[in-house]
Amino acid sequence: MKKTLLLIFLLGTSLFADVEKGKAVFAANCAICHTVNGGKALGPDMNLVSYTRHKEEITAYAKDPYSLYKKFGYSANAMPTLPLEDQEFKNVADYISSLQPFKKWMIKKKK
Ligand code: HEC
Repeated sequence: MKKTLLLIFLLGTSLFADVEKGKAVFAANCAICHTVNGGKALGPDMNLVSYTRHKEEITAYAKDPYSLYKKFGYSANAMPTLPLEDQEFKNVADYISSLQPFKKWMIKKKK
């Protein structure tokens, strides 16, 4: 019974990644190299990244920049592979993605 409850709890926490938690992950692990709306630092401004990348792309790059930097258009990789949990990568990607809540609407809109 206890195991079942633990499983439900773990499933629950992994299905609902949390923007607020992601914000804390960002502050502790990404903000030394990335700004939000403060322009380019060592890495790109996340406000811009939130326009151009899907949540899945942000998660993937955060997890493994070395194997993706060419695909993302960089000629060199200066971002380290960070030792975070899967859930922390998802949360931080949720946070970055949430910076532009209307981007889908903006992309779909045609005149
Ligand atoms: C030591 C500096 C550093 C840290 C820490 C860092 N980054 Fe980066 N990041 C970079 C640099 C530099 C680039 C540009 C590409 C490269 O060098 O790999 C980059 C690129 C990226 C990109 C690709 C953006 C694009 O679309 O071109 C994403 C996404 C990203 N970082 C997310 C994160 C996240 C999330 C964290 C924290 C969990 C983080 N970074 C921590 C330096 C850093």
